[in-house]
Amino acid sequence: MPNDLYHDIKGAKRRELIKAAAAAGLLAAGGGLSTLAPAQSAKVKVGLMLPYTGTFAQLGVAIANGFKLAVDEQGKSLGREIEYVTLDDESDPPKGADRANQLVTRDKVDVLVGTVHSGVQMGIVKIVRESGVLHIIPNAGVEAATGQLCAPNIFRTSFANGQPAYPMGKVVADRGLKNVVTLAWRYGAGEESVAGFKDSFLKGGGKIVKELWLPFPNVEFQSLLTEIASLKPDAVFVFFAGGGAAKFLTDWKAAGLKGRIPLFGTGFLTEGVLEAVGDAAEGIETTLHYGDGIDTPKNRAFRLAYAKTFKLQPDVYAVQGYDAGLLFAAGMKAVKGDVSKKKEMIAAMRVASIDSPRGKMTMSKAHNPIHDMYLRKVVGKENRVTGVAMKALDYPPSGTCKMPA
Ligand code: PHB
Repeated sequence: MPNDLYHDIKGAKRRELIKAAAAAGLLAAGGGLSTLAPAQSAKVKVGLMLPYTGTFAQLGVAIANGFKLAVDEQGKSLGREIEYVTLDDESDPPKGADRANQLVTRDKVDVLVGTVHSGVQMGIVKIVRESGVLHIIPNAGVEAATGQLCAPNIFRTSFANGQPAYPMGKVVADRGLKNVVTLAWRYGAGEESVAGFKDSFLKGGGKIVKELWLPFPNVEFQSLLTEIASLKPDAVFVFFAGGGAAKFLTDWKAAGLKGRIPLFGTGFLTEGVLEAVGDAAEGIETTLHYGDGIDTPKNRAFRLAYAKTFKLQPDVYAVQGYDAGLLFAAGMKAVKGDVSKKKEMIAAMRVASIDSPRGKMTMSKAHNPIHDMYLRKVVGKENRVTGVAMKALDYPPSGTCKMPA
């Protein structure tokens, strides 16, 4: 500990050492030996717990890229330098709580950013609720995180699982497509997506012919596609993402269903996979809080900076990571980098209005985004925005969150 090192040093030698320590950023503002580390001028530790392997690996990388881009752009205005601790959660739910605990207890992160998979997210939520560590969810949509398990220190910059699916139910019902089969991975994200779709689809007079499921991250679609072909529904709604979505789109086309049965999904079905699937996704319509061709100065600047920095095109995951960085920055600026003032940070983050590449984003009372939901259509290598399916959507209603003071 620096205190032990310095406590018996006297006179000029002592003053020299203090000067050197201050220059090296070891002393707290106000100086004095008694105020040596843990110092206000030390770097702020951000834990990035994300999938860097497996079917969601690309999503994790895009989120980390987006977060770092936002932090770099904010630069000195954050008040402190940032240091990252990166941890792969492998999208493996049993590892969630242990890995989060490792970041909190061993690495002592000031902020935990993560993750992608709803099951892993439940483990993180447990740890951040117990420890009180500031937490930003940049993807996983598990509704409990901003529902029954909501907490002042938990924020989300992505979506609740039902949120992108809810507008799609209305779109399909409004087109007079009555009999629908749903197909999804059977875990939190799949189940809550299907529930969000059904919520508006049933209200609109639609009927679910059959709900089909397969375990995450299984991609053996063959027998399910055969069943869909024999059911002959008016349309199919699916939830898949990442590598699994690419495989599904390819298999859907190979089974001869493309063009025969209208296919709809949340935008995750076609995000970040268009390069990989050739023309298998052409024409597919989805709903999501981001899309290509949002013609705002913010989105143009973001896309340019992202492409330049990472030599990749950004997608919704990159945007969610970027916005997690902007939300974190809103908190940091309010306390001039003094993360020990957690209550003030949280207060600033609650009321932040984020100028996101997606458009304006604010936090609901439950700390989940309120944002526009776009209708998009795959045209070539783009998820082109064709309209706004629902404006400023706050869903599911924040009623299940009883936010502790
Ligand atoms: C989730 O598990 O919550 C999840 C994963 C990938 C997505 C969306 C949701 O694209």
